[in-house]
Amino acid sequence: MTQDPVQGGPLPDDLARGKAYAGDEVTVYYDAPRCVHVANCVRGLPAVFRPRERPWIQVWNEADAARVAEVVRTCPTGALHYALHGAPPEAPAVPTTITPVTDGPLTLRGDLRLQTPAGELREVRAALCRCGASGNKPFCDGTHARIGWKSDQPGGQAPPDQRGDGHPEEGQQADGARRD
Ligand code: SF4
Ligand code: FES
Repeated sequence: MTQDPVQGGPLPDDLARGKAYAGDEVTVYYDAPRCVHVANCVRGLPAVFRPRERPWIQVWNEADAARVAEVVRTCPTGALHYALHGAPPEAPAVPTTITPVTDGPLTLRGDLRLQTPAGELREVRAALCRCGASGNKPFCDGTHARIGWKSDQPGGQAPPDQRGDGHPEEGQQADGARRD
């Protein structure tokens, strides 16, 4: 059962993107093209987020569903979301924050309405490309690291031949690793 979100934020279906990993009390959703390997999830709950195993998300290894949700909320890119069964969806941060990552994207937290090539997208967390080279704009896809983009360099732009338009396959990460 789902309930209305608090504070008028995104609805549960807005945040249920990507592949679902269901447990008894919580379902974790993983939207692979949005993952840039920050690895907050792996550090936070290594028993659940196991990138060398299949499936790589094993929600059944943590009895405390609220702890799973807590770690999912540390994912800065919005690659991970959760649904606590019978509970409201993740509440957006108030006020909205925008934080530049050194040599990387802008990370946002709040009640977000993002205009994307696929239409408007409701979000609570996102990492937006500022190097110009992402193949998944407006989102960061990790390309900034591969091309050595520096946020303090004059102009801050990647060379034109490095402005990728290739899109990572489902499960394909910017550094070539795969997750299913
Ligand atoms: S971006 Fe999110 S899902 Fe990807 S490794 Fe980092 S915390 Fe985990
Ligand atoms: S800032 Fe990460 S791909 Fe552009």
